[in-house]
Amino acid sequence: MYGSEGTVGVYYSNAQGIRLRYTHLMATDFSRAYVEASKKRLRFSSLWFQMKFWRFIKKWRMVRRYFASKKIHSSLAPCALTAQFDAAADHFQKHTWAFVEEVLSSDFLDELCSNWPKKFYLEPPREQEKSYNIGFSWICGMEPDFRYYDPHGQCRILRTFLNYMRSDEVALRVKKITGSEEELFCYSFILTDAEPGAEVIPHKDSIQDDADAVNFFNIIFFIDAAGGKNSGALTLSRDNELRRIIFEPPRLRNTALLYNSLSDYYHGFPPIASGKFRRSIGVQFCGRAFVQKQHS
Ligand SMILES: [Fe+2]
Repeated sequence: MYGSEGTVGVYYSNAQGIRLRYTHLMATDFSRAYVEASKKRLRFSSLWFQMKFWRFIKKWRMVRRYFASKKIHSSLAPCALTAQFDAAADHFQKHTWAFVEEVLSSDFLDELCSNWPKKFYLEPPREQEKSYNIGFSWICGMEPDFRYYDPHGQCRILRTFLNYMRSDEVALRVKKITGSEEELFCYSFILTDAEPGAEVIPHKDSIQDDADAVNFFNIIFFIDAAGGKNSGALTLSRDNELRRIIFEPPRLRNTALLYNSLSDYYHGFPPIASGKFRRSIGVQFCGRAFVQKQHS
């Protein structure tokens, strides 16, 4: 599953073993010229080879994490959003997006950074449109269970993060920030780890075509990044080639970009520069009626 920066429809098994397809989470409305230029740039790069052999890399990573001997880390710091998060309400309700600095409590951020999962806990890049590593994905209707990515429970802090995002407290705070009249729920969660060459091709989320979606919000938590130009700053733009930029996050450590997925703008970021990286977690929230429709 690809999360809040644009999602590719994938089958999931829910707790009852029922396979569900979330096609409405796909990315849409790409620029054909931008996609072609990206394809040319990618060809024969190290990322291109990784994407060619993703099946092999995926299996090798599964073996590695099965035999991983890393000590189990107990998640100690409680996950908490700071008051800066709530202070984004005015800007969000005026512009349908907001940028928040110092969004997570510093002790939780430090613990998350020092326990960030190594690449073998993640799925390798495989899609040109979103060419980063992904993992620890959860979507409403599934058990909050990361056993596939983390068979020995070595990355418990991510479970702590997910549980907090699914709490009534966070749902209520997101409701207040967005000014939504409907009760909100955490809809999905995903970790992404972007390496040099990785990009998100500017797009809209296909949720915009779903008549049942009335309230749908994305929060991208930038946990850590190399910083500076071409470091994976998810940018909001009026066009699908990042020419008419609305906002480009200036800092990517302990910051967050909130935006309304149904708004009439695009999001994406150009390829990450050599020697740089970006680590983020995407979380989506949606209204009660949408969740009920999905699972009725
Ligand atoms: Fe997206």
